[in-house]
Amino acid sequence: MKVLVATKDLAVFDVLQGLTGLEYDKALFTGQIYDALPGAQLIIVDFDDLVEHPYSVGMLRGILSDSDVPFVSSEEFLAEPDAWLREARRLSGDSSDMPTKRTIAFISYSGGVGKSVIAMDTAKHFAERTKLPVCLIEFTYGESALSALVGKQLPALFELATQPDIEPYVWNNVTLVPMDYDNSRDLSIQLLGKYLKDVMREHVLTVIDARWPHALIGAVRDEIDRWYCVATADRPDAVENAEKLAAEMGPKAGVLMNQMGGIVDSVALSGIERNVELPVLRSADRFEGKLGKRVLFHTYGPAVWGAYEPKGPFANLFGSGRSKKAAKPAVQPT
Ligand SMILES: Nc1ncnc2c1ncn2[C@@H]1O[C@H](COP(=O)(O)OP(=O)(O)OP(=O)(O)O)[C@@H](O)[C@H]1O
Ligand SMILES: [Mg+2]
Repeated sequence: MKVLVATKDLAVFDVLQGLTGLEYDKALFTGQIYDALPGAQLIIVDFDDLVEHPYSVGMLRGILSDSDVPFVSSEEFLAEPDAWLREARRLSGDSSDMPTKRTIAFISYSGGVGKSVIAMDTAKHFAERTKLPVCLIEFTYGESALSALVGKQLPALFELATQPDIEPYVWNNVTLVPMDYDNSRDLSIQLLGKYLKDVMREHVLTVIDARWPHALIGAVRDEIDRWYCVATADRPDAVENAEKLAAEMGPKAGVLMNQMGGIVDSVALSGIERNVELPVLRSADRFEGKLGKRVLFHTYGPAVWGAYEPKGPFANLFGSGRSKKAAKPAVQPT
């Protein structure tokens, strides 16, 4: 997405600098704005700041009014930048490539395979890249991993579902619904389902982190579009379990192979069908998006998700830094 910036207000640059997938050009001469108009999707312009060369401000204003490119003053833009960027993208026809509403679940019979870390990384990365609403719902027994990983006691499902004035905690723009099984088990599946579906209605992406089987999963089971059955590459028992689970769950399910360690794993696992492979990270709980990015490529497909990654659709398959110059995504998002 290309934005033309014709203002002396530096706050506008501060906002734009933080965004990926977005180019901006500076232009203070009326002629520069005119020349850059064809490729632009949004113009942030303060007409009082412009240098009238070679056109008058009046003439340029007329041209902008007649064009299809939206324009906005720096003050209006800064009041709600996300809304303007979304609108610009919608008008330029990019909206068909917005991520559609999805619910994805990470599940496993085996413990400790990476469900919680992958779920959190996926949700956080989605929020960062798209600025769209995303939530994370947990189905565990015992202690909530979400609370532990976030590092504080969070409002959990029982309270949230029974006390309407309690709001979920928001972590890095991800709405969190942790599980407190010992309390939540006393609620009916219907009540839980109603609460959770209300939460899901407010979010474009819902990520579910679930131990399998789970006594309360029936509350959301019908909503789930994709099941990722998680295994760790170096644990044959976990791999076998994940294959079994994927077969039981049917066509919406596949194996997600976590902690792939290079050539040895690739050979050892050559007979095993899997949808997604994730590398071993030095610190998986830093949540830098390295795991989430690969999941989102699979969930949304390269055509849609590629537009949200700065390096183009296939860079992720080869690690970072493979090509110096970023491939240009087919569609440029905000
Ligand atoms: N790709 C990875 N690279 C490095 N470490 C990882 C990776 N994925 C998970 N881990 C580490 O493995 C451990 C288990 O991960 P996690 O708690 O997410 O598993 P889980 O499946 O949610 O476990 P549980 O079944 O107990 O809920 C954590 O210490 C996590 O940091
Ligand atoms: Mg967990």
